[in-house]
Amino acid sequence: MSNFQYIQIEDKDILSGYIKDGGLHELYNLCFNAPPYNEYFEINEIRRIFGKYCTDGILYLCLDGKKVIGFIAAFPLKLEEKVYQIVKNHLVDVDKYWYHADIGTHPDPEYRRKGIAKTLWNAILNKVPTSHFVARTQEGNEASKSLHLKLGFQILAHVDGTFVTQDVHRDDRHEPDKRIFLYYERD
Ligand SMILES: CC(C)(COP(=O)(O)OP(=O)(O)OC[C@H]1O[C@@H](n2cnc3c(N)ncnc32)[C@H](O)[C@@H]1OP(=O)(O)O)[C@@H](O)C(=O)NCCC(=O)NCCS
Repeated sequence: MSNFQYIQIEDKDILSGYIKDGGLHELYNLCFNAPPYNEYFEINEIRRIFGKYCTDGILYLCLDGKKVIGFIAAFPLKLEEKVYQIVKNHLVDVDKYWYHADIGTHPDPEYRRKGIAKTLWNAILNKVPTSHFVARTQEGNEASKSLHLKLGFQILAHVDGTFVTQDVHRDDRHEPDKRIFLYYERD
């Protein structure tokens, strides 16, 4: 049995402590500076991204002691304008959907593939006032694709997810990137 703790963060001051002292900034980069993302996020960017999760949606962290080893966030899809515009004609009653915006588990083998992402997802499911979600992931991210399918997401066919990346790449690359979109509907 692990002693991992799953906590919802609703307060920006508490969030700030986890970003700096709990290692959330470092964890985010560990999750996304490897291929296929190759991204690097400054601490102020992490404050902005997670601040939005905290105020506009639902944010959960997984802790091992005081160290953050996992995160998940979701918020109403209409607040993610770019994704909303892409999927709106492919879903019935699009305004009832939330966006599964972010998920990550620390890459150490003691944490990956131990059910942390699945547990974080269940924590979100128990909190959100909806049973409809959209997610977006990179086509080449097998772990993320497999995770979403296992959680019950289905691929939204016929949606063109090719775009020029706007994200902060370590190699300063701004090139076509292929994302897939998925949807989830709880019974
Ligand atoms: C994707 C990610 C969040 C999975 O986290 P995790 O805590 O290891 O996942 P879980 O242990 O809960 O695994 C749940 C399911 O996901 C799938 N999965 C997870 N890692 C996988 C991998 N490396 N390869 C294939 N499938 C994988 C499996 O279906 C797994 O179920 P199983 O172990 O019963 O087969 C993690 O690999 C990660 O942080 N990756 C980098 C960040 C990222 O890509 N986030 C998604 C962006 S959209």
